[in-house]
Amino acid sequence: MPTTDLAPVGLIGGTGIYDPGRLTGFVPTASKVADTPYGSVPLTGGELGGRPLWFLNRHGPGHHVPPHRVNYRANLWALWQEGVRAVLATAAVGSLESALPPGTLVLVDQFLDFTGPRTRTFFDGAGAPLPGVRHTDMTAPYCAGWRSVLMAAAEDGGIKLSPSGTYVCTEGPRFETAAEIRAFHRLGGTVVGMTGVPEVVLARELGLCYATVCLVTNLGAGLAPGPLTHEDVTTVVAAQQTEMTRLLSQALPDGGRTACFCPAAPDHLMGGGGT
Ligand code: HPA
Repeated sequence: MPTTDLAPVGLIGGTGIYDPGRLTGFVPTASKVADTPYGSVPLTGGELGGRPLWFLNRHGPGHHVPPHRVNYRANLWALWQEGVRAVLATAAVGSLESALPPGTLVLVDQFLDFTGPRTRTFFDGAGAPLPGVRHTDMTAPYCAGWRSVLMAAAEDGGIKLSPSGTYVCTEGPRFETAAEIRAFHRLGGTVVGMTGVPEVVLARELGLCYATVCLVTNLGAGLAPGPLTHEDVTTVVAAQQTEMTRLLSQALPDGGRTACFCPAAPDHLMGGGGT
């Protein structure tokens, strides 16, 4: 049962969450481009309430990388390399239930993977940088410890946060058909997005605690009153980003001080990433 104590936390900003300076109390200390075996990643370092933090934009500076081309392995590796032991992520999602309208925050606890040809693993059989064949347990993919810290932070801050849900990940970049949305709901999905997988999987492969706060930006196709547009998504994120950053600012200093049930890192990673 790992505890992350005051090890740095990684924050992956999804659509509309581009500036760690919006976090209350964030003090920037560094800006760098991290080199990884998968490519380079711009990072902003800082501190929030005594907690060291590394921030990255999932879609790159200026949101120029579409979901199916995000360099998920480089992003996770870069954070791990900086000594991060827990990652919080934000994600814009569509809702599969009319009861979760645009503006709702959802703390997902499961996922369904409907992505296409993305590389979903560091254990790619090639021997480098992580060797061997490895099958990683994914029974409970999101960190229970960080999830309860986020719930407590929401309660303290009077922020409405739906406590659980299943994230359906599609390949994108297109939105879904109305039939897909109906099918995903019947399968037990709560929200749908394009980036949650393989991010959560790669975090677990590195032994990182990981949690995602989803922001519902629209009802899924067929539930929404008309066609979906990216502007619908960005408009709702812009309107709700203060609520999201308030939640993160409140949770970040508190998380990781208690044990959780996330499996430890594979043996050959136990020494940590270092810098
Ligand atoms: N579908 C997939 N991804 C999304 C959506 C959606 O409706 N809204 C925001 N991201």
